[in-house]
Amino acid sequence: MENKTIKGFSKLSKEAKIEWLTKEYLEGDDASIELLKSYWHNDTKTQKLHDEFIENTLTNFYLPFGVAPNFMINDTIYCIPMAIEESSVVAAAAKSASFWLNRGGFKAEVISTTKVGHVHFAWYGEYERLLDFFNRVKDKFFQNTENLTANMRTRGGGILDIQLVNKCDLEPNYYQLMAKFETCDSMGANFINSLLEEFSKTLTTEIENDAILRDEEKKIQVIMCILSNYTPECLVRSEVSCKVEELTEGTDMSPEVFIEKFVQAIHVATIEPYRATTHNKGIFNGIDSVVLATGNDFRAVEACGHTYAAKDGQYKSLTHVSVENGIFRFWIEIPMALGTVGGLTKLHPIVKFSHKLLGNPNAEELMMITATAGLAQNFGAIRSLVTTGIQKGHMKMHLLNILNQLEATDAEKKQIVELFKTKTVTHKGVVDEFCRIRGIENKDISIGK
Ligand code: MEV
Repeated sequence: MENKTIKGFSKLSKEAKIEWLTKEYLEGDDASIELLKSYWHNDTKTQKLHDEFIENTLTNFYLPFGVAPNFMINDTIYCIPMAIEESSVVAAAAKSASFWLNRGGFKAEVISTTKVGHVHFAWYGEYERLLDFFNRVKDKFFQNTENLTANMRTRGGGILDIQLVNKCDLEPNYYQLMAKFETCDSMGANFINSLLEEFSKTLTTEIENDAILRDEEKKIQVIMCILSNYTPECLVRSEVSCKVEELTEGTDMSPEVFIEKFVQAIHVATIEPYRATTHNKGIFNGIDSVVLATGNDFRAVEACGHTYAAKDGQYKSLTHVSVENGIFRFWIEIPMALGTVGGLTKLHPIVKFSHKLLGNPNAEELMMITATAGLAQNFGAIRSLVTTGIQKGHMKMHLLNILNQLEATDAEKKQIVELFKTKTVTHKGVVDEFCRIRGIENKDISIGK
């Protein structure tokens, strides 16, 4: 077997890493080396910044960064930055934003920003005696972390509460210290994890030195200390509403038919996990792209949202609809831990730009903006799905990708885009037109097959 492994790769220079990689895996392909280097930033300082975000950086990975204008949220107009590769997402968000701009905009509120973390541990004794011990030493967890929480406390945050949780119904001898935190404008991962590790030390020391616990009750095994990305209390809600008849204004569709299908679509996403997954995926098209553009952790936000979607024991839609007294109401309620300080927020130049564009929001404002992008995305998707179908708009936006794959010239692109303004875009249809214009045979085209 070929040995393509290496020791000390991370210690090599960037050039040496690329050289080793291409030699071992790509037969020393010069074009690959050139390609990777062509994505380096001209400004070495900016490039170094990116290099140092992670280990083993070779180059930069581009994603389109766009904006969706005309979002009115709580009477403020935002142009929302979005980083995403999927062609139709920004267009759909912008379309929904304009639609709701004329119907009162989005109303959003943050219900709470409480975060949570655990010290998971095993202990071998009677729960009541552990609880008694915990209540005797509880203050020590706060006292022993005063230096770590000082800054956060001056900002109005800190440790909100610590509780002992008995998990022996899940696993014999399994307990948790469950702590709640307010981390103000930071997502708080480092703050929380540092505190949890301190709690673990206090827990172990206090158990060892306790005068009341018996010798056989002093055995404790801390399994791990880690924040939970499931933050069900760190909750934001965004909503749109309008009179039923305003929903289909300017179209030839009756509001009754539209609403009936729209409500059915949300209901299907509530009762049917296959549909709920795709439905929520569309919501995360909007949410993730804002989370990414603002330098937040989209994996954390996704994981949290999906757990919340399953909180009732079945995976369900994160959006909800009601029609009462002639008023259509559509809303999202979703937990998300976002930060506007810390992490990449003040480091990555484009992330900094995103924050500036949004008026340097605080974490709560960013939660409302992000949830709104998710709601707008979902509204756009459901509206298309129950009317024209999704492919019309999606393929229109995908047209340029197909033409780029075909390596069409600018003039060919212009001509074909013009042609498809009045026709439904299909992959075959685009290839056919391209071949006709170029005067070549369809069989000579291998793209997408
Ligand atoms: C595509 O990325 C997202 C949609 O499938 C979402 C949905 O079906 O609701 C259009």
